[in-house]
Amino acid sequence: MKLLLTTLSAIALAAPAAAQVRALDNGVEVARGQMAVRVTALTPSILRVRLADGGEWPEDASWAVPTEVRAKRVKVNAAPDGFATEALRVSVDPKTLQVTVRDPAGKVIVRDAYSPVIGPGGGFGMGKDMPMGERYYGLGDKTGPFDRRGASYVHWNTDTFGYGRETDPTYKSIPFYVATGGEGGSYGLFLDNPTRSWFDFGHRHDGDLEIGAPEGPADYYLIAGPSMAEVVRRYHDLTGKAPLIAPWGLGYQQSRYSYMSDTEVREIAGRLRKDKIPADVIWLDIDFQDRNRPFTTNARTFPDLPRLAHDLKVDGFGLVAITDLHIAHAPDQNYAPYDSGVAGNHFLRTGKGETYVAPVWPGPSVFPDFTRKASRDWWGGLYKDFVAAGIAGFWNDMNEPAIFETPSKTMPLDNIHRIDGDGFATREAAHSEVHNVYGMQNSRATFEGLRKLDPEARPFVMTRATYAGGQRYAVTWTGDNNATWDHLKLSVQQLVSLGLSGFSYSAADIGGFTGGPSPELLTRWIQIGAFTPVMRVHAAKDTPRSEPWVDGPEHLALRRKAIEERYRLFPYLYAVAEQQARTGDPIVRPVFYDFAASGCDSPMSFTLGGDLLVAASPKPESPQPYDVCLPKGGWYDYWSGRKVTAKAGEKADSVGETPRIDRLPVFVRAGTILPRQPLVQSLRETPRGALELAIYPGPDCGGTLYLDDGKARAIERGAYLRQSFRCAETAEELRIELGAREGRWKPWWREFRVTIHGPAGTGTVRLDKRGVAAVHDEAAETLTFLIPDTGTAARVTVAAR
Ligand code: GLC
Repeated sequence: MKLLLTTLSAIALAAPAAAQVRALDNGVEVARGQMAVRVTALTPSILRVRLADGGEWPEDASWAVPTEVRAKRVKVNAAPDGFATEALRVSVDPKTLQVTVRDPAGKVIVRDAYSPVIGPGGGFGMGKDMPMGERYYGLGDKTGPFDRRGASYVHWNTDTFGYGRETDPTYKSIPFYVATGGEGGSYGLFLDNPTRSWFDFGHRHDGDLEIGAPEGPADYYLIAGPSMAEVVRRYHDLTGKAPLIAPWGLGYQQSRYSYMSDTEVREIAGRLRKDKIPADVIWLDIDFQDRNRPFTTNARTFPDLPRLAHDLKVDGFGLVAITDLHIAHAPDQNYAPYDSGVAGNHFLRTGKGETYVAPVWPGPSVFPDFTRKASRDWWGGLYKDFVAAGIAGFWNDMNEPAIFETPSKTMPLDNIHRIDGDGFATREAAHSEVHNVYGMQNSRATFEGLRKLDPEARPFVMTRATYAGGQRYAVTWTGDNNATWDHLKLSVQQLVSLGLSGFSYSAADIGGFTGGPSPELLTRWIQIGAFTPVMRVHAAKDTPRSEPWVDGPEHLALRRKAIEERYRLFPYLYAVAEQQARTGDPIVRPVFYDFAASGCDSPMSFTLGGDLLVAASPKPESPQPYDVCLPKGGWYDYWSGRKVTAKAGEKADSVGETPRIDRLPVFVRAGTILPRQPLVQSLRETPRGALELAIYPGPDCGGTLYLDDGKARAIERGAYLRQSFRCAETAEELRIELGAREGRWKPWWREFRVTIHGPAGTGTVRLDKRGVAAVHDEAAETLTFLIPDTGTAARVTVAAR
């Protein structure tokens, strides 16, 4: 539906004969002939650009940007050619309708390369300049190069089993990129059009970044930085932040398509505990169901699901169960999801008005109308029994939606959805309009349903298909990858790109879904995976087993060590996750996110929260030595705790690494206070001992602790603990400030074990005025001491010797 352009009474500004320029209190509107462009400011740094043809504006609606965010506005200062906010100058050429955004100093941030066009069917095309040296990141987990320059992409959610580096489109559509390196600083562009849009980064025409869609609104947002971090945070302000995950979601997760029975699940759980591999989750793939029917259980192989869930919980495990969206077409068979869905008129219809039936895992299936609120509410209610049975989390797969036995791999484009809410008029919409948000609305229905069923829990939902903003409802993974070294490489790039695109909580099937990993590949993948947001080993049917123990004791020991380290790092990882929930800073980030000046851009290097730098080999399959790019400021080796002697370069330093299977190079930024905890086998277990504060002296020295009761609304209820730590070095001493504590959550520790790394500070230690006994390990270059945690601010000084 389109809304008529209202005649605006604002004063026309200076404009050539044919164009009409109208100042709005929050932007400008310029019309020329049939075309009009409206640029408005939501905040001083976020602009919305909309195009209209024939005086009609598309409806003000969005799946990605919530209504209250779209309603944001700031007053702007009108200028003859546009307007200015505190942060930006916007001009619209009245002859060409080209938009240019500059910073206050006049430097160009982003500029239209030519006039935008709207096609007769409502599609549109536009081009942006691509200055030399500007680089482009984002687009979720799309394949191809990490820097998107030179590549071209289509947004069309597609089930791409066994995809390769060249495969496009894939499972999700996140039409957002962040450009960095231009003269006016970084900016982001989010095209809020869920139809089959395309982004071409100078692939077709060198120097033109072209964007278009065959239908739907020309409605996009320009987000200014100037830093990349500011762009990414503002993109989250626009599309929402992923809510903080339940702590167990950060644990090690063991999956396979499929663990076939209750007995097998218990065996896997038992083996993980026996082999002392810390783990929190076991996944139930489609075979736990009766004839692949969602929301059923195979009574023969899983005779008592509540009991299984209960027993595993006692042992520190949660179960995540698959609940695909396709409901078996099973009339008169007492299959409640089908019967209640029919009764509520919740299934999609074809263009001819018949219920749409097509084959997926259960055979002939029907498909819920997730863009309709009543159908989402019905779907959410289907989880009642599983929630009551104690299932911890849910998996929404196949929601592109995937359809078998058809070349398009999906449903007909003229299937009819009913949409309502989110600014949309209550109306029918063809599948072509809704396709890319279908998976997102599936995960939304699940998330909202779970929240209703158990308001205290943080829903854990994993989705395969999604759209921009889907991070509000679900974590995601990169689908059916392959057990190859190249896929290990690709996965790092995909997770980092997802983080820049709103999806901080991401996973890749560790070990690869298709094929079977060599022992070295699985070990390396587990080592790297231990530093990624969601850590799940998963593999397809009829592939070799890929549990950590399958390659003998030596590989098992290396894999265990990596997973144990993740568990020790939990307080750091959780604080980084909480930071993402507040600010939008991704959990894993490219090195240049926090260290723009470094120029460090190896796609196999990333940071976990900015302070830990993981530097896998750019050729992980090869024993060839490589140089790790380390931003200026100093780094420590994570494993030895020793200061790294790096080779000084102009913008960054470097250190040589020779690949070894028993070492994944990880570095700690000098200036980090890293919280760690004693080893546990499950994050549901209470650690015993002191909380460790590992101090790596250096510039801008600090760290944060954030822990809570793991429940929804922990912060609102005060059931959390937040504390900052700072450290500063002078010629006389190293001073550590333990900041005031926020929140009422009661810690499990009574003491802090402080370890100071590096040759500095080996003298007398004092807590406030009292002396503290400390152990100096000369060989390890550490000074360690225990101090009581009184829950209040305190100061520790370590005299220099
Ligand atoms: C799809 C999923 C895969 C899952 C399988 C069976 O291929 O991507 O992860 O194991 O379906 O449910």
